[in-house]
Amino acid sequence: MQRIKLPATDSTNAYLKRLLRERELPDGTLVSAGVQTRGRGQRGSGWKSEEGKNLTFSILKRFSGFPAREHFRLNMAVSLAIVSVLDALEIPEISVKWPNDILSGPYKVCGILIENALQSGGITHSIVGIGLNVNQRAFPGLPAAASLAVRAGRNLDRDQLLDRLQEALWKELSGLESQPSPEPPLRYGSLHDRYEARLFRKGAESKFSTADRGLFAGVIQGVDAEGRLLVATGERQVRAFGFKEIRLHYGPEAR
Ligand code: BTN
Repeated sequence: MQRIKLPATDSTNAYLKRLLRERELPDGTLVSAGVQTRGRGQRGSGWKSEEGKNLTFSILKRFSGFPAREHFRLNMAVSLAIVSVLDALEIPEISVKWPNDILSGPYKVCGILIENALQSGGITHSIVGIGLNVNQRAFPGLPAAASLAVRAGRNLDRDQLLDRLQEALWKELSGLESQPSPEPPLRYGSLHDRYEARLFRKGAESKFSTADRGLFAGVIQGVDAEGRLLVATGERQVRAFGFKEIRLHYGPEAR
């Protein structure tokens, strides 16, 4: 699979998108950068990563019209691929904080930004961007962030890690289109089960907040097929929340 290794760029997601407009790229093309000057995160945030210490990369995955309403299957597949690699390296207490932050204990070690290109209700390709904190030791101003090295107590070989991640991601992503679309009650088979099995704070009472309810207690039950978080609230009722609607309060300062 084609790999493009850049010393620096604005954002590997943005770079890959630009390249795709200029020329044909083989499926699975991976772009990595030693440093990003405008790394992008979820909800319009940025992504900061110390130069030469971590992994910041994006992968192109083409589809032959993957149903857009099943987009959350992509999040599940990508999260689980990363979890499998970090488990194999014995990084402690790996989980997925909905929708797709990868944590070690209560600390975020990896962020994922998936950008989908759509055409008549189908996803034609996705750009899967991954920022993994590998050997960075200090995270000033980010008390809920850590790296694999901090958590495992040893530095890791970044090239070897990238090989393993590429392989695991390719395996999960290329299996997606051969899996049948789900029937009601709409669960994505074993992918859904495996994702929920690794969901951070599933089954434990947690603090949440929404614009209309303010702060409240609830228990994560899982996710629905649209990727909404299912939370049992105080009134013994399960409600589904979209990504922009709810915030889970977690991390060292919220415990
Ligand atoms: C998040 O948790 O907010 C998602 C962060 C995603 C960061 C990665 S780094 C590689 C790729 N390029 C970007 O600009 N963002 C993603």
